[in-house]
Amino acid sequence: MLVLYNTSVATLAAAGGIGLIPEGAIVIDGSAIAWVGAYRDLPEIYAGVEHQSLDGRLVTPALVDCHTHLVFAGSRAREFEMRLEGSSYEEIAERGGGIIATVSATRAASEESLLQLALMRIDALIAEGVGAVEIKSGYGLDSETELRILRVARKISAVRPVRVRTSFLGAHAVPTSMNADEYLDKVCLPTLQGAYREGLVDAVDGFCETIAFTTNQMERVFCSAAALGLPVKLHAEQLSNSGGTVLAAKHNALSADHLEYATDEDVKTLAQSDSVAILLPGAYYTLKQTQRPPVEAFRKHKVPMAVATDWNPGSSPLGSLLLAMNMASTLFGLTPEETLAGTTRNAAKALGYFDCGQIRPGARADLAVWDLEHPAELSYRIGQNALYARMFEGKYDNHDEP
Ligand code: NIG
Ligand code: FE
Repeated sequence: MLVLYNTSVATLAAAGGIGLIPEGAIVIDGSAIAWVGAYRDLPEIYAGVEHQSLDGRLVTPALVDCHTHLVFAGSRAREFEMRLEGSSYEEIAERGGGIIATVSATRAASEESLLQLALMRIDALIAEGVGAVEIKSGYGLDSETELRILRVARKISAVRPVRVRTSFLGAHAVPTSMNADEYLDKVCLPTLQGAYREGLVDAVDGFCETIAFTTNQMERVFCSAAALGLPVKLHAEQLSNSGGTVLAAKHNALSADHLEYATDEDVKTLAQSDSVAILLPGAYYTLKQTQRPPVEAFRKHKVPMAVATDWNPGSSPLGSLLLAMNMASTLFGLTPEETLAGTTRNAAKALGYFDCGQIRPGARADLAVWDLEHPAELSYRIGQNALYARMFEGKYDNHDEP
């Protein structure tokens, strides 16, 4: 057992707000949190337990990156140049670039090389205090490669101190060799079955957009997910209003993601489900979008907001969740409290985790200790990583003491 004291603790434990305890203490018992509160209220039974001073530093739950595509090969730097020369993301996709370009590179990569590439990215997130990550497939679009991506994603948590939730994103793009319905029938849905049988799938995702799949097509994918008892989530209203938010709400999706083009009515419908709105400022920034997600409507209708990197080689080559937090505040107008809730409590909810993203008795002792005094510093700083130590399941990374 260990008592952390001389710290301010952002517990994120109650809905709304960050639950800041200025002179706080946390009792760690094995891999879990036993108690949290003001140090002056520390129960007598913990008085004799080993104490560790954090010298006034801030503690938050370990961060959660709830939307990434970080298992991929290849680079799309040339497309970045093309966009600077005036081409749009959709035009590049229609010319066989975009997702399809990454599909070719990923199909050609071995499981081992994909793992090595993914681990470099995971290590960058861990170094920022991330303790749980969602990883999607979707750069295979054939059975063999989709399964390879998911196996790599599963392997990560065996070799790194991080939790991984996998999402099957077979409905990410239509391969050039067939039309969307053929692809769903012949490849995507049978692959989902196979991946499920191998225990590789925690949730099912899709890209509902004019350049990808229609709501009717996504509905078929979601029905297959439901038949397997898998929760769903959706890339919705990223580039246009395509009806994805209402579909996500109807299927009580874990999350609806992007949402730049969601209307007030869409948000109202989403509020009737248990879904989280995942905001992805890295993609908005990279694609130089101007339509911001309807943050005021999320607040008004009480839809919880999460923030993630969307780490992928095309629309969001963003390897920093801290930078995503800054962008969510500066570009979307989230308060620093909202961005912190968005990368802890709400991000955990978006992954169906109920034992992390908050500091409360019974939750996992997955913590981030920051060389900061106030949580607003996390969103305010740009390109600075103030992580002092990270604790995963009650153990500090690499050493026993921070
Ligand atoms: O979340 N929207 C679809 N998927 C990714 C983009 C993937 C890519 O361009 O490679 C996204 O933005
Ligand atoms: Fe995405």
